[in-house]
Formats: sequence, C-alpha cells, structure tokens
Amino acid sequence: MTNPASGTLAEYYQQRATEYDEIYTRPERQADLAELKRTLPPLVAGRNVLEIAAGTGYWTQVMAPAAASVTATDLNPQTLEVAASKDYAGASPRFLVADAFRLDAVRGEFDLVFCGFWWSHIPRSDVPRFLAGVRARVASGTPMLIMDNMYVEGSVHPIARTGPDGDTYQLRRLHDGRQYEVLKNFPTRHQLAGDLAPWAGNLSYTELTHYWLACCELGVTAPA
Ligand SMILES: C[S@@+](CC[C@H](N)C(=O)[O-])C[C@H]1O[C@@H](n2cnc3c(N)ncnc32)[C@H](O)[C@@H]1O
Repeated sequence: MTNPASGTLAEYYQQRATEYDEIYTRPERQADLAELKRTLPPLVAGRNVLEIAAGTGYWTQVMAPAAASVTATDLNPQTLEVAASKDYAGASPRFLVADAFRLDAVRGEFDLVFCGFWWSHIPRSDVPRFLAGVRARVASGTPMLIMDNMYVEGSVHPIARTGPDGDTYQLRRLHDGRQYEVLKNFPTRHQLAGDLAPWAGNLSYTELTHYWLACCELGVTAPA
C-alpha cells in the first residue's frame, strides 16, 4: 500500500504533469543537464532498464536509444501519458503504472535500475523499505543509478520546514496558484552512502553544481 505522504506527493505530480518539463528549461541548469545527457547513455548501453518514478519521460528519452529496453514506471498515469507522447528515436520504452514501493508487481527481467529525482522524495523512514523492495526485485550485482538535485540557493525552492525524521519540505505552486507542501530531501554524500550501505556497494558519486549522480551495485555490500 502507498504511504499517506506519497499520496500527497503523487497528487502534486499528477496535477503538475503538463507543467513538469518546464523545470528542465532553467538556463542555469543547462550545462549540468548536457553533461548528464552525455554521461547516462554509456552507463545504460545494452541494459534492460527498470526506471522508477519515470514521470514525463525526460530521462527515458535520454536512456532509451542506448539501452536494450526501458520499462518506465510511475504511480501516475497522467505523467506517463506525457511520457508516452514523446519521441524515443526509434526505441520503444514500455510505460507501466507502478508504485516504487511495490516493484514486485512489475513484470520483466532487469539488469539496471534507474531513479531520476525520486530519491529526494522518499521519506527518511521509508528509505530501507524502498531499498529492500528494489534489492528483492533484481539479481545481486545489478547496477543502480540515482540522480537528484543539489540544494542550490535561489535555484531550488527554499526549505520551508524540517520534520522530526529530518525530512525537509518545500512549498510549491502550480500555474493555477494551488500550493503544495512537498517532501524534498537533499542528502549529503555521507548520508547517501550510509543509507545505501546495507543494500548496495561499490558506490561512486559525482557532484555537479545542480545535480548529483550515484552509481552502486545492489546486493554487493562491504564486509562488516
Ligand atoms: C520529481 S518527479 C521525477 C520524474 C522523472 N524521473 C524525472 O526525473 O524527470 C517524481 C515522480 O515520482 C512519481 N511518484 C510519486 N510517488 C510515487 C510512488 N509511490 N511510486 C512511483 N512513482 C511515484 C511522481 O508521479 C513523479 O512523476
């Protein structure tokens, strides 16, 4: 079952589906986006990718031409509808409505997991549950790529409050003025490494100005 916090989050992204891609037009982020678009295709080349929380398919478009296959999942049919309307340069990603916490319901064989801008929306208390689900879904040694935002003052929404578990929240407005409080975490490299340690190893981490990219291998953990 979806947790209550992700009900609000899912509703926000459902309502934002047709506005979502505007986030990728911010001028100050273009150089970093270009670098990530160069970095990602070789990492997924020839892989059968399970994409978690794929949204409107922005990164699906980057991965699909290089990957053997991409199964792009999201809780919201509305975001996947936008994704399905895009051009994939001859590739045919599969779009599936699925909860990131119920990956056992997604059929298929995958040898790479990709999460773009999803990690930051996982409540701190749910991180182990999420990682346990991902780990159980794929073979040991499967690479997982996680990409997300750095906290850059003036470029991201300010943090409006911090909850008891350390989750941080932003206030965001849709074009029609409706305001949502959205859980958005900005982990340090150290915190990310600690969260991943019980589930994945061989972590590599790249920090750009606006984004970070982590690569790790599920089920490969360091000896205690
Ligand atoms: C920040 S967007 C990221 C979209 C896309 N990966 C990207 O990078 O452009 C977060 C996405 O998470 C989805 N989402 C929210 N709760 C979810 C859940 N429990 N399971 C799967 N997707 C969920 C939303 O619908 C939204 O598309």
